[in-house]
Amino acid sequence: MPLNPRWTMLSLLLHVTLAVQAMAVMEVLVPEQPVVALHGADVVLNCSFSHASPVNLPDLTVFWQLTDTKRSVHGFSGGRDQLADQAQSFATRTRLFHSQLGLGNASLLLSRVVVADEGSYTCFVRVQDYGSASLLLQVAAPYSKPVVTLEPESNLRPGDEVSLTCVAYGGYPEPGVIWQDGSGRNLTDNITNSVVANEEGLFTMSSVLKVVLEPNSTYSCRVINPLLDEEGYASVTITGQNIGFPPVALWVTVGLAVCLLVLLIALAVVCGRKIKESCEEARREAEEAKELEEGESKTAMTPLTS
Ligand SMILES: *[C@@H]1O[C@H](CO)[C@@H](O)[C@H](O)[C@H]1NC(C)=O
Ligand SMILES: *[C@@H]1O[C@H](CO)[C@@H](O)[C@H](O)[C@H]1NC(C)=O
Ligand SMILES: *[C@@H]1O[C@H](CO)[C@@H](O)[C@H](O)[C@H]1NC(C)=O
Ligand SMILES: *[C@@H]1O[C@H](CO)[C@@H](O)[C@H](O)[C@H]1NC(C)=O
Ligand SMILES: *[C@@H]1O[C@H](CO)[C@@H](O)[C@H](O)[C@H]1NC(C)=O
Repeated sequence: MPLNPRWTMLSLLLHVTLAVQAMAVMEVLVPEQPVVALHGADVVLNCSFSHASPVNLPDLTVFWQLTDTKRSVHGFSGGRDQLADQAQSFATRTRLFHSQLGLGNASLLLSRVVVADEGSYTCFVRVQDYGSASLLLQVAAPYSKPVVTLEPESNLRPGDEVSLTCVAYGGYPEPGVIWQDGSGRNLTDNITNSVVANEEGLFTMSSVLKVVLEPNSTYSCRVINPLLDEEGYASVTITGQNIGFPPVALWVTVGLAVCLLVLLIALAVVCGRKIKESCEEARREAEEAKELEEGESKTAMTPLTS
């Protein structure tokens, strides 16, 4: 009786599965919680394996790869690093602790973490048996201190609609934003949030709150980085000063008035001197004219005396 090809397939599959189970007895441990790394800093991705006695390095294979894409992050076998097929983005940024490898520590040092490193990593270890485990790497960057601006910022009148914009930049991941009024009540209406990533993947967050202006009101903005448990705070208080006659315009007006006054005084002084001068000149001219007249009469008389 010819063998049913389906049976052949099934028994083959069974064999393979059994073989895998028989081999996969090595326990490999990685952190269960996501590992949080700061953007730009170094991080150790822990991976340890149990083995009865210290392992001879030539007998050990360690292989780190990205869980989803299966791209190689770092390899070690035959007693040395194997980086021929390492993904370009990890070049020169990975290292195993060679002195610790034989003792069951296959942890990976990843340097100068970038946002794009975020994801799941799998650590494979084989001596005679093999095992693997995956961990999650999360990247975090603190946001700048937020800044709140007012639009429009002058000539405000009660009842005007104004936009308050809260901006914080250079952070990761997306932050939480909370707007509160002066009495600590959460404002949830008329808020528009947006995040824009720069070329490094770090975010600039803008949150716009539209309010109808009331005198003496305070609005505050909190920007919370969920991974770092860190928050920034900024607030703006709209007092009578902003409303009606804004301080900037006031100072400009005062400044102009003072300038004008100084100019007028200077003009008065200069004019006064000019007038005095021209008076004196007129007098001098008159005297000179008189002298000239006298001189002329003298000269006229001269021929008579000689
Ligand atoms: C890595 O392992 C070391 C030693 O066991 C431990 O002190 C450290 O907290 C671990 N790091 C993480 C992120 O789990
Ligand atoms: C492995 O060794 C490195 C370097 O000594 C250390 O930082 C890390 O915590 C160790 N990891 C474990 C799981 O022991
Ligand atoms: C405002 O919202 C934050 C976060 O959602 C919350 O922690 C806080 O208790 C709220 N405050 C009030 C007064 O509702
Ligand atoms: C939201 O905006 C609309 C129009 O822009 C305004 O009528 C409304 O009062 C605002 N809501 C709050 C709570 O400020
Ligand atoms: C605003 O506050 C100032 C000082 O706190 C107070 O003199 C003024 O009366 C307040 N104006 C209103 C409309 O509440």
